[in-house]
Amino acid sequence: MKVLVVGSGGREHAIIKKIKENNAVTEIFALPGNGGMANDAVCVNIDAKDIHSVAQFAVDNKIDYAIVAPDDPLVLGAVDLLEDKGIACFGPRANAAIIEGSKVFSKNLMKKYNIPTAAYEVFNDLDSALKYLETAPIPTVIKADGLALGKGVIIAGSREEAKEAVVSMMQDKVFGKSGDNIVIEEFLTGPEVSVLSFTDGKTVVPMISSMDHKRAGDNDTGLNTGGMGTIAPNPYYTAEIAEKCMETIFIPTIEAMNKEGRTFKGCLYFGLMLTPNGPKVIEYNCRFGDPETQVVLPLLESDLLTVMQAVTNETLSETEVKFSSQSACCVIMASEGYPVKYEKGFELTIPAEISDKVYVAGAKINDGKLVTNGGRVLGVTAVNKTLKDAINDAYLLVKDIHFTNAFYRKDIGAKALKAEEGR
Ligand code: AMP
Ligand code: GLY
Repeated sequence: MKVLVVGSGGREHAIIKKIKENNAVTEIFALPGNGGMANDAVCVNIDAKDIHSVAQFAVDNKIDYAIVAPDDPLVLGAVDLLEDKGIACFGPRANAAIIEGSKVFSKNLMKKYNIPTAAYEVFNDLDSALKYLETAPIPTVIKADGLALGKGVIIAGSREEAKEAVVSMMQDKVFGKSGDNIVIEEFLTGPEVSVLSFTDGKTVVPMISSMDHKRAGDNDTGLNTGGMGTIAPNPYYTAEIAEKCMETIFIPTIEAMNKEGRTFKGCLYFGLMLTPNGPKVIEYNCRFGDPETQVVLPLLESDLLTVMQAVTNETLSETEVKFSSQSACCVIMASEGYPVKYEKGFELTIPAEISDKVYVAGAKINDGKLVTNGGRVLGVTAVNKTLKDAINDAYLLVKDIHFTNAFYRKDIGAKALKAEEGR
């Protein structure tokens, strides 16, 4: 069986490694992938956003199954194109991917169907947004409507900061058309939990919960990044909370999308905040999270391709999705200076005996050598009986990987460990 994975990051590498476990898989292509995946997939230099070329590649190479991982091609309609060409796919069609592609859509959906989320207002002109901010409660949260490389959310601690954010989005167009409309919403507090789920539009099966570490520096300081590490399961997410989320968020969301004629099939990611007033949705993503996938999939005991195909065939309710009772920790190794300015092109050494635990995000092959080629270079994941052991093991693995300018957070999982001890 020939499988195609669209995307190039650590998340895609984790998906590829898991798919490889299925004996029916004979070949895996990554579009475009990266040099650090070359042992696991054939990387072909086609941009994930060039969805017409992606679909043509799939046809020309008689791909049996395609997995579209990143948000951009999903929102652009990669799955629609592939399916229309008769290729079985994992991922939502564009009319459902809008749940991530437009914050205005997702907020209005939640309001219409009573799904708990922060109170909000939508604005499509600068003057009314600025007027609203004169009396809005501070801190406040400003969100660009469309995709903005994960940077479209600004938490403003003062009225001035809020106004600046609105001007930069609506007038200066720092996120282009993504800032034509904005959402201004209530600032919520509480621990954050990421819950990825499989859904075929009829059944929703949450995966093991996880916790991202978005800030660049230890103790959640510094700039927001694409994610500096993850742990799973998330100790804040108790069985009781999970049950409540199923009832008040997960099932209502799947049903709401069906009622809107936008059935969601694929991985629906619930970004949740456990507020004093119960769990609320911070954001939906129409895809696997990065780097959540790098801790969630290593704990999946069922065969990933089988589960994905059940989503495609709408037979998820008959398919077992089993997770290990162990814990996982992923530490991201980045280039010093990320997420702002960093050098690349340094030789990267990953000992062969640990390469199965390493998910490469930003590397390429140059003159036969693997060199760094991005801000986030790789993630290394350890699995062990307890969270504490998984964290220790992940940091031991980090010591075996070398490149100039490597930087990583030293406290991935520390907050989760404290939460566990407090229980
Ligand atoms: P996002 O880019 O949508 O993942 O949002 C980035 C981060 O902003 C989230 O992970 C939260 O930490 C924070 N955030 C988003 N919305 C809110 C909110 N309403 N209240 C507090 N924090 C928020
Ligand atoms: N880790 C957050 C995301 O994938 O959006």
